[in-house]
Amino acid sequence: MAKTVTLNTPLDMHLHLRDASMLELVAPLTAQTFSGALVMPNLVPPVTTREDLIAYKQRIIKASKNDAFEPYMTLFFQQYSKAFLEEVQDEIIGIKLYPAGITTNSETGVSSIDSQTLRPTLEAMSDLGIPLCIHGETNGFVMDREKEFMPIYESLAKDFPKLKIIMEHITTKEAVDLLAKYENLYATITVQHLLITLDDVAGGMLKPHLFCKPIAKRYEDREALLQVALSANPKVMFGSDSAPHPKHKKESCGCAAGVFTAPIALQVLTELFDKHDCLENLNAFVSENALKIYDITPPKKEIVLEKKAFQVPENYSNDTEVVVPMYAGETIAWSLVSL
Ligand code: NCD
Ligand code: ZN
Repeated sequence: MAKTVTLNTPLDMHLHLRDASMLELVAPLTAQTFSGALVMPNLVPPVTTREDLIAYKQRIIKASKNDAFEPYMTLFFQQYSKAFLEEVQDEIIGIKLYPAGITTNSETGVSSIDSQTLRPTLEAMSDLGIPLCIHGETNGFVMDREKEFMPIYESLAKDFPKLKIIMEHITTKEAVDLLAKYENLYATITVQHLLITLDDVAGGMLKPHLFCKPIAKRYEDREALLQVALSANPKVMFGSDSAPHPKHKKESCGCAAGVFTAPIALQVLTELFDKHDCLENLNAFVSENALKIYDITPPKKEIVLEKKAFQVPENYSNDTEVVVPMYAGETIAWSLVSL
């Protein structure tokens, strides 16, 4: 009999679901295997009002076609008043801060990230217990952007010691090291950054479907990420950063940043933890740590996986959209037992 693994209440704490026909295509793929997901607000225009947030959540619930799936909503960071945050706090799990122009749909992000400028909003978030999720990259040399952002994380962590700060999709050893230094710093890690380096993206023929922000880094960075994920370190959570873009926007001159991993994430993570003999820590990484960090109680869901080859589809599509997943056409070692 094939080896099996049961995951309880899996969570994806960094997910892009988009809107309209793309949302219709991708939401069910996450909702069938995850109990909940933290949904990114970088729509065009970004989610910044209570009305938009509630309406978007309703569209997600409808598109998910799964009763045991909770979308945890975020607002796109801008300067918000405390009164507004009080009004909206029950509807959100956090606020996502993007440096202006650093990634897909972040043009209206923050151009100067310092405690002084952001104090009114960050103080209000801290008082109300609203976590701050950050895309931590400067606009320096692409391989150094995350490393260069470390002093910004440090000063925010020091200046707002009660504010929970989540370093999103970390890709470097420096970010891993910083986790241990501040009690209020946490991190999400994607599937792809545990598996690939820049060599896989650009070392041979260019692989547009592995291109994302932050770009995959060096072997020693991947090793540091692996160690902290495999060891069930309570400060890291799985956040896929699954970021679907239409096939023609990836396979084009001017490739959009984002790797689409939602339908294969749990299978690939299971394969990885199995390979390293750490399966007993997988549930901490994909669920328990996030439950504690965010203090949430998502709908219960049991997902069974078996060690049986699965051929990843070439693409996922509906009438209007075609999206190519990571490992399209390749065979991975673990499959979902029929849902
Ligand atoms: C994300 C997207 O496409 O929205 N892209 C990416 O490369 N990760 C945005 C983001 O999280 O940076
Ligand atoms: Zn993202």
